[in-house]
Amino acid sequence: MNRLRNLYYTFPPVLRRLMRRIWYFPLDLYETLAGKRDPMIPPRGMIFIGSGDFRKMGLDIRDQLIELGGLQPHHRVLDVGCGIGRVAVPLTDYLGSKGSYEGFDIVRSGVRWCNRRIGSRYPNFRFRHVDLKNDLYNLSTGNRAKHFIFPYAGEEFDLAILTSVFTHMVLEDTDHYLAQIHRVLKPGGVCFATFFLMNDRARDLLEQSGKKMFGTSLPHHYLFHPRVREANVAYDEKYLTGEMIEAKGFQMEQVHYGFWPGGPRQALNNFQDICIFRKT
Ligand SMILES: C[S@@+](CC[C@H](N)C(=O)[O-])C[C@H]1O[C@@H](n2cnc3c(N)ncnc32)[C@H](O)[C@@H]1O
Repeated sequence: MNRLRNLYYTFPPVLRRLMRRIWYFPLDLYETLAGKRDPMIPPRGMIFIGSGDFRKMGLDIRDQLIELGGLQPHHRVLDVGCGIGRVAVPLTDYLGSKGSYEGFDIVRSGVRWCNRRIGSRYPNFRFRHVDLKNDLYNLSTGNRAKHFIFPYAGEEFDLAILTSVFTHMVLEDTDHYLAQIHRVLKPGGVCFATFFLMNDRARDLLEQSGKKMFGTSLPHHYLFHPRVREANVAYDEKYLTGEMIEAKGFQMEQVHYGFWPGGPRQALNNFQDICIFRKT
């Protein structure tokens, strides 16, 4: 499995996405012609954000945002790394006319699909493309995330969402994004973010399960792949919480460990670790 993954990572992101489109083209064409495709779900070949049931995973995240993150229909929401609308689509049924959604991502095709399918029907949903470098998703620029100023005013949002985004960002970029999120959240606003948290529990479970993950150790974070640095990134939990999150003026309120290192699944059945922290 790891060998296959390593081979996959040798292709540049654009080529990986093209291969996926070609692979799924017959099925996508069939489903489109037979009228079997929900227009609010992207064709399989376009879903570049990972495997799994797109609709169900989006609905699960939406429920977690409501039940754990305190999302309400009138909230103004920021979805950082919105991908191809997995979270936005189910939010269209939840956010009311007083609520609104802003998403941005570094992959142009995903943002284009979101604007065409979601933005055009829901005027309170807006998507932007930002051209930033990421080893896994975008090599067409040298612009670094650590210099990117979010294009929003201060204290604008009630909730910031980052599902499976910090797991693809290196430490200095994540640190800068946390500062930006702190700036754009209202006082008392909440950030709902997923991570791979490295701690004694995860180390023990990784050892028991024999999973070979995060073999490259850097100060306070760990890489899955030494060259494709952003393929998967784990953070030292203590450092992340104390020096990166709470040091910015957030209070960590909830941590729900996922099953990524092995071990039994918890009630939420989350793969990545969910962290919920509030701007104090
Ligand atoms: C695994 S996907 C998750 C997408 C989406 N959050 C979801 O849950 O469906 C990771 C996303 O993060 C985006 N991404 C990576 N680095 C980013 C950055 N610096 N700023 C914004 N988005 C980024 C990628 O383009 C990709 O869409």
